[in-house]
Amino acid sequence: MNVLGKTLGFSLGMILIFTLVANLLPQVEGEAPVEQKVDLGALTMESYIALGEALFSGKGTCTLCHNAMGRAPDLLVMNVGGAAEKHLEDERYKGKATNIEEYLHESMVDPGAFVVASFGKKGSNDTESPMPAVNKAPIELSEIEINAIIAFLQFKDGNDVTVELPTEAPPVEAAPAAGSAPAPAATAEDAIKKYGCQACHSMLGTESSVGPALDGIGSRQSAEQISLSITDPAAAIAEGFTPGVMPADFAEKMTVKELKMIIDLLLEQR
Ligand code: HEC
Ligand code: HEC
Repeated sequence: MNVLGKTLGFSLGMILIFTLVANLLPQVEGEAPVEQKVDLGALTMESYIALGEALFSGKGTCTLCHNAMGRAPDLLVMNVGGAAEKHLEDERYKGKATNIEEYLHESMVDPGAFVVASFGKKGSNDTESPMPAVNKAPIELSEIEINAIIAFLQFKDGNDVTVELPTEAPPVEAAPAAGSAPAPAATAEDAIKKYGCQACHSMLGTESSVGPALDGIGSRQSAEQISLSITDPAAAIAEGFTPGVMPADFAEKMTVKELKMIIDLLLEQR
């Protein structure tokens, strides 16, 4: 399993996502795809793992923090199951999990149950986690989606996949269209969601302390300043915050219209 997992894991990802999407697409033309439930016979562990991989960098917004920048443990390069086993034994561990699967689940819905040393909220001495609970707004992953990510995290390191296939199919909207760029957002709120701003910023009714609160930004900054903060975060670093945490590639990813909608919405936050 170890060798197989390592060599196959990522290269298979795209094919599997494609298979998944093909399997999950509604078979009846003209139906609204979002609420469509599918035949569970079509869902294999391979496609469930592929869904987890897609959610990890997509809807889950995990890669906004879990990357090589050092803000959070780089889950994609480390052996996640190994770390989980170690942390379960740690004297600082105060959660309820008894195995790797439960630990990973708990890490996602109750991130404070164990805070990885040196990654805690500033000034909390590693007693509070900056990670948002991913089953709550704004990320709001379902149980099925959370378990798909656990399956992916177990599989990618060649560890045993202990997660069971769901008895209910995940909604089609959970999987991105294979091979195509994500559709441009229709509204400012959609754009904020698409780019995961709320994972790091308190705004629009959700909280996060990774970046400055944007609730009152409209009374502090001009459209030009806000635009620069989004397209070139390194240009001016908000006082008390770490450079290099906010993704620097929004300028490449956003359409001009998406950027404009986001700026207009932020200007209204007073
Ligand atoms: C806003 C930043 C942020 C986002 C978004 C985020 N995390 Fe985290 N995560 C962290 C930080 C920081 C830590 C380390 C502190 C801690 O242990 O809580 C962490 C810890 C973890 C751990 C525990 C690792 C260990 O070795 O014990 C897991 C598992 C995890 N995250 C999974 C996820 C998954 C899956 C997602 C997406 C669904 C996600 N995280 C989204 C910041 C984030
Ligand atoms: C992974 C975390 C993260 C994500 C995702 C993120 N930001 Fe940030 N953002 C930060 C941090 C940290 C800072 C403060 C450091 C700096 O100025 O670069 C910041 C700074 C800002 C500022 C300047 C605020 C001030 O008070 O000067 C704006 C505006 C902003 N972000 C908007 C956005 C928008 C809009 C999005 C989504 C398109 C977004 N951010 C996504 C972490 C993030």
